[in-house]
Amino acid sequence: MKNYIDVDEHNLAIQNMLKHVDFEDKQVLDIGCGDGRMSFKIAQYAKSVIGIDPDVEEIKLAEESQKTENMMNLKFHAGTLEDMDFGDNTFDIIVFSLSLCCIANTDNPFRDKLELIHDVWKLLKPSGILVNQLYNMRFDFNNPGSMIWYLLSGEDIHLSTYVRAERSTAALKYATLVENKFKFIAEEVYPIDWYLNGREGAINEFVGLEEYEKLDGETKLKIDEVINKCITKNGDLLEKGDDVLTIVQKIE
Ligand SMILES: C[S@@+](CC[C@H](N)C(=O)[O-])C[C@H]1O[C@@H](n2cnc3c(N)ncnc32)[C@H](O)[C@@H]1O
Repeated sequence: MKNYIDVDEHNLAIQNMLKHVDFEDKQVLDIGCGDGRMSFKIAQYAKSVIGIDPDVEEIKLAEESQKTENMMNLKFHAGTLEDMDFGDNTFDIIVFSLSLCCIANTDNPFRDKLELIHDVWKLLKPSGILVNQLYNMRFDFNNPGSMIWYLLSGEDIHLSTYVRAERSTAALKYATLVENKFKFIAEEVYPIDWYLNGREGAINEFVGLEEYEKLDGETKLKIDEVINKCITKNGDLLEKGDDVLTIVQKIE
């Protein structure tokens, strides 16, 4: 079943990157690449792309897609950056695609992100480019995903997504503006509005149909109430957010 209508977040991201980043003949590292959806887009323009992610299953998916697509300028490795042995001054461009916001190894996420940005600085060649793409749900909207998540977990995903995104931006800005490690190149903010195919699409996205079936009657009723309130006249469900793309350049 198709859940999303008219949204290709990674396509919008690459189109916005291309306004400011020249990938031609460049060696790129995609940190936290997941199943490689952004690595594949970048590989169409770059000389080579290495994608890394500690999630072994996601790396397997990326490798399977690579076989199908038969793209020779892409490589994937399972592991974190600390597990890898890339030398200093190796990459022209490093990308975090919805991943810097997720990376935290200790209970001090700001410091973890700043440490990672320092490591990235070392890995970049002189004048190398760092790109951070992140997603922010909008505060000004009665966000269905957030409400359902709250019902299920007691955690406000609306707030936690915002806080994670804010911390990663804050760390990048700190390294750029306070520590003078990078020069600011550009920021692009563009709307990412997810339209979900009615009730089933929404349940599948926010809970998963199988998991939904296992819930007790009262929770199901509450979830149905949330979904019914948010369904539009066309029978779609809308969740609003923005992608923020920040591009900075290494200063020696
Ligand atoms: C929201 S996903 C984004 C995946 C992919 N970049 C995309 O755009 O679809 C965040 C990814 O960060 C990865 N991640 C978490 N901790 C990490 C770490 N310490 N080093 C590298 N990647 C990490 C997760 O395994 C996950 O695949």
